[in-house]
Amino acid sequence: MFTSGERWLLELMADRARSALAAATVVVVLEERGELHVQAHSGEGSISATVIPVEGSALGALYRSGQPLALERPLPDQSAWLTELGLEAEGALMQPLMIDDVPGGMIIALRQDRGFREQDLTALGAHGARLTRQLMAERNAEVERLRYGAQSRERERERWARELHDETVQGLGVLRMQLANARDSGDPAQLDVAVKEVSEGLQREITGIRHLITELRPAALDDLGLEAALDALARRAEAVYGLHVQTEVQLTPEHERDRLDAELETTVYRIVQEALNNVSRHAEASNASITISERDGTLVAVVTDDGKGLPEEKLRNNGRGATPDPRTQEGDSPVPSGGYGLPGMRERAELVGGELALESALGEGTTLRLNVPLARRPERAAEPQL
Ligand SMILES: Nc1ncnc2c1ncn2[C@@H]1O[C@H](COP(=O)(O)OP(=O)(O)OP(=O)(O)O)[C@@H](O)[C@H]1O
Ligand SMILES: [Mg+2]
Repeated sequence: MFTSGERWLLELMADRARSALAAATVVVVLEERGELHVQAHSGEGSISATVIPVEGSALGALYRSGQPLALERPLPDQSAWLTELGLEAEGALMQPLMIDDVPGGMIIALRQDRGFREQDLTALGAHGARLTRQLMAERNAEVERLRYGAQSRERERERWARELHDETVQGLGVLRMQLANARDSGDPAQLDVAVKEVSEGLQREITGIRHLITELRPAALDDLGLEAALDALARRAEAVYGLHVQTEVQLTPEHERDRLDAELETTVYRIVQEALNNVSRHAEASNASITISERDGTLVAVVTDDGKGLPEEKLRNNGRGATPDPRTQEGDSPVPSGGYGLPGMRERAELVGGELALESALGEGTTLRLNVPLARRPERAAEPQL
């Protein structure tokens, strides 16, 4: 199966080959499970059959030959493969395409008024080689994107599991032991004290689990809106990490009344959440602030802290990290290893058409800024990205 990105790429390459060769038509045919599929068609003529079996067809025989072909004023027995496609031509060229070093298809160029020159066949071969290279690069990038998304989701789950284990399970275990010890002591006074302490402890655990649930599924976001949900995050960072967090949301009257769209609110929430997690875990900060505002049609979300600042290499990469980023160009130096938080934030920002910037100086805290142009947002996803 071809993705829409791959089809678009093939169409583009077919267009380029057609204009470079001054051909009337360029067709790209690729094999998939014993069938030849017309995957791109640029120029004149309409294709009557877009899927032709390799077995028993003239096109299949041509494909199997694995040899380039140049024809001028082809005779009917030479052009049966063209007829199968529903095309006619005065001049025809075909170059086999190698995908992953094995035959995988053909690129065909046609003219209606004259034949091609010898060097056109070589040029078509070069176009074909470029096309397959780009196709492979696109496929690898897609695989990387999928793998990368799966890894960061896995990391997120690990984090929740760790937090449930470290905070809740261990906390409850301690309370259970406290009760058991008091019971075993046989001293009613000690048991009384333990029951009181354990009941307070249980209340703390319940509050902790509530905070965790809020983070997993920010009901406050749906019910109360962005400001209240961000406030809840700030309170949790205060309760769990002792961080003092100030929140300020200043939207235009229109957005205060009608809310931002759900996908954008979720994105802002998740990015602020990860930024606050980072401040709590890495920054050694005492204070942080969350500011959401609107300026000239752009939504601006800023999270600052007064901590130790970002390591130099994180700043240089502007948050690229973790496994090599699939979006880095071939030949780029490998990015330093790190977590999934910053790259994940950047990905979320890009999905809503925005961008993320990091500013920091060692010892002078960190500022993370998200800008999302409100007018140029890509089409809304059906489901908000959680
Ligand atoms: N506010 C900050 N202050 C200081 N250092 C920071 C801050 N935010 C991030 N960092 C540094 O950048 C690194 C990368 O952050 P990132 O969120 O990508 O990964 P992580 O927090 O280490 O792991 P993960 O988010 O996957 O659990 C952190 O390990 C930390 O060294
Ligand atoms: Mg992180």
